[in-house]
Amino acid sequence: MRILTGLQPSGKLHVGNYFGAMEPAVRLQEQGEAFYFIADYHAMTSSHKADALRENVRELAIDFLACGLDPAKAVFFRQSAVPEVNELAWILSTICPMSLLAKCHSYKDKTSQGIAPNHALFAYPVLMAADILLYDSNKVPVGKDQKQHLEVTRDLAVKLNDTYGEGTAVIPEPIIREETAIVIGLDGRKMSKSYDNTLPLFGDEKTLRKLIMKITTDSTAVEDPKPMENSIILALYRLFASEADYATMVADHERGGIGYGDLKKRLADAYWDYFAPMRERRLAISQDPGYVDKILADGADRARNEAAKVLQRVRRAVGLA
Ligand code: ADP
Ligand code: TRP
Repeated sequence: MRILTGLQPSGKLHVGNYFGAMEPAVRLQEQGEAFYFIADYHAMTSSHKADALRENVRELAIDFLACGLDPAKAVFFRQSAVPEVNELAWILSTICPMSLLAKCHSYKDKTSQGIAPNHALFAYPVLMAADILLYDSNKVPVGKDQKQHLEVTRDLAVKLNDTYGEGTAVIPEPIIREETAIVIGLDGRKMSKSYDNTLPLFGDEKTLRKLIMKITTDSTAVEDPKPMENSIILALYRLFASEADYATMVADHERGGIGYGDLKKRLADAYWDYFAPMRERRLAISQDPGYVDKILADGADRARNEAAKVLQRVRRAVGLA
């Protein structure tokens, strides 16, 4: 079984990204042949800063490795290291009805946020379909926001087979993370870059602790019991603490007598400890710049090898070879 997913290099990773995307991907690498890539071509649909792109790709690679991606198990590469994906995207766009793309809400959402409506942004789902079909992927784990893109991919795979013969494309199955565990941000809304309410995964300790101290709380007095419904402190603490520590935290909320400052400090300690092993790995990896380059180069070789086979099959089916 081949499992494939892509992550956009779009800046600092936060705790929501970790529990929503990285950690599930790391778990899945045990269950099949994982292909994980950094979607740098996709990042160019909404930003045109060359240095930032280079930097973000590198940082995401280090982050992903620090979070437990195992290059011995997963093929890890950057999307643009396999330029063959563009040829498949072209072939797919020749069978892709305009109406299929016109109904995609991510294009509408992004342009309404002020991102320039360029052609690549509109054609984004076609490139994504090419990412998936180029590796004969069976399972594609994605967040809920990508569900429609997976439907487009399946439509295009079926259409390719209808047009050029069964077996031209493998039809992928999405694994949609329902986000029953949406990670709450520092202001109580969903944690997201766009709300500027994130707790980064990595960074300077003092800054991160300060962020936690800024979590929104009410005006309950120190001695009084603290409300637990909608408590941001509790929701975050649950992610980082053992069951026993979580139970103690709940009991302390019920009893009262401890101020929000102390409860936040406890949260900050748990957060800091939880990511300690990843922080250490991250430090070690970033001190060895050649390591990341080598992993990505090996990954690109393996991915390209696989891509060449599939593309050759498609080229023959469509009459290009
Ligand atoms: P952001 O909302 O900060 O822009 P992205 O949209 O880049 O984050 O998210 C990348 C991945 O991280 C998505 O696939 C999504 O599933 C996951 N993710 C992001 N925020 C959260 C969150 N608050 N809770 C759970 N998962 C999240
Ligand atoms: N569009 C995805 C996102 O923004 C990233 C992505 C690009 C992707 N190509 C993919 C995910 C292929 C899964 C499969 O999160």
